[in-house]
Amino acid sequence: MGITIALDGPAGSGKSTTARKVAERLGYIYIDTGAMYRAVTLAAIRRGIEISNLPLKVLVQSINIQLEQSPNGQKTLLDGVDVSREIRMPEVTKLVSEVSASPAVREAMVKEQRRIGKKGGVVMDGRDIGTVVFPNAELKVFMIASIDERSQRRAAELQAKGIDVSPDTIARELEKRDELDSNREISPLVQAPDARLLDTSSITIEEQTDIITTWANEKISQ
Ligand code: DC
Repeated sequence: MGITIALDGPAGSGKSTTARKVAERLGYIYIDTGAMYRAVTLAAIRRGIEISNLPLKVLVQSINIQLEQSPNGQKTLLDGVDVSREIRMPEVTKLVSEVSASPAVREAMVKEQRRIGKKGGVVMDGRDIGTVVFPNAELKVFMIASIDERSQRRAAELQAKGIDVSPDTIARELEKRDELDSNREISPLVQAPDARLLDTSSITIEEQTDIITTWANEKISQ
């Protein structure tokens, strides 16, 4: 057993890396829910599916997305094939907010996320974890950071994966995605009233990890 930790916030706020490190320290499983929406988007692109609710509904019923824990972080499998790298490609990033606004896609993903996390002992990062997926999560953190900091981080992250994109291009893409994610009708990106706010603009990953682990340990010992 263990508690449920929900980490929400905009792209590039440091959620994924921090979530993975917090999970490692607590011996919990780590789930990057954005990867699931990215896998659906990749499948839609590959099959040439129109990005609207009905075709996407049919698509999600016919694909299989699995998340596997590995020493290098989470692996994302689409129909049994590792697509962890492909889901980070700019073509996927460009479309993922539109795909994730589909009610049918959200319904299917949320159902799966609840199944994976139902036993607790999980750190889940996303946009709607503390508001919709696990509204009763014992610890909710809403992470934010300045647009400059977020785009620098994303550029470095992509470069490490051999994908070269300028921070300026990334800043525009992040702002567009924030806007779509925050204004969609279903489960928009919003801070849950009982979430703790953590601004990561000028703190290191190690410091973020320390802060959230401390908050988690407080909840665990309650
Ligand atoms: O965390 P990320 O940048 O990999 O997420 C990709 C997109 O997926 C993000 O722009 C919005 C969507 N998403 C979502 O709608 N709900 C989640 N729980 C996680 C991601």
